[in-house]
Amino acid sequence: MFINLIQANLTTKVIGREIEHYTRTKSTNEDAWALIEEGANEGTLVITDKQTAGKGRSGRSWLSVPGKSLTTSLILKPEIDSRLAGWFPLLTGIAIVDALNELGLKTKLKWPNDIMVLGKKLGGILCESRIQGSILEWVVIGIGLNINEQENELPADVYATSFYIESSSSIQRELVISKILNNLELLYATLKENKELKTLSKFWTERCNHVNKSVKFEADNDTQEGIFMGINNDGAAIINSNGKETIYTSGDIHIETFAKDIV
Ligand code: BTN
Repeated sequence: MFINLIQANLTTKVIGREIEHYTRTKSTNEDAWALIEEGANEGTLVITDKQTAGKGRSGRSWLSVPGKSLTTSLILKPEIDSRLAGWFPLLTGIAIVDALNELGLKTKLKWPNDIMVLGKKLGGILCESRIQGSILEWVVIGIGLNINEQENELPADVYATSFYIESSSSIQRELVISKILNNLELLYATLKENKELKTLSKFWTERCNHVNKSVKFEADNDTQEGIFMGINNDGAAIINSNGKETIYTSGDIHIETFAKDIV
């Protein structure tokens, strides 16, 4: 991993201007929280070549291949209404989909945090936050993307894919993360201004693969079937079950669809 190469491709003012690079670490999200305790600045990026105890959502673990996966965490200090916390995985998802698109790979979003290609998972986002009263003080955005892995290097029990598998070419992870950060800084500025939530919602919906589709929604050991209607102003999912709308701020979506519809 060449930090100079990341910085050479950045067009940002704050995000990614400071980078902590570890050849090996347990979890970049954990490192980010430790750096916050030590007085890190907003925009600091933690990145590693080898993550040995990566964390996924809902207490799951996240596996990555040394030198091939992109495993990184970004530190933000938004100081905005904590109700907006749910937007961070969504904005990061938009930034990732657009970056991969610029690099020639079409991907879609699955609420709240999955990056998908034809029904297979290419990556995920783990956002953790610290709230003081009603203010969202710190956010750590963890990004895990499968970039240059071959099929036999990905876990066999999950429906996973990588940039290399989908596009038959490898790519510099440095370029991928710079493009993501460039996109994210603009989206983050829009969220902080809190004026254009409708625009952000439109951006996300356009990149989602299951709006108006029948889904199974799993939250707090409860499974619901319904139509995924979209997201509200807080980035929460709106599910319509037999005419009744329920709002979910967290949970897992399972898409029931025909193979030809999978994107
Ligand atoms: C998920 O889909 O469950 C989210 C996966 C997020 C993994 C990334 S890898 C970098 C960062 N550090 C971690 O420990 N987890 C996130």
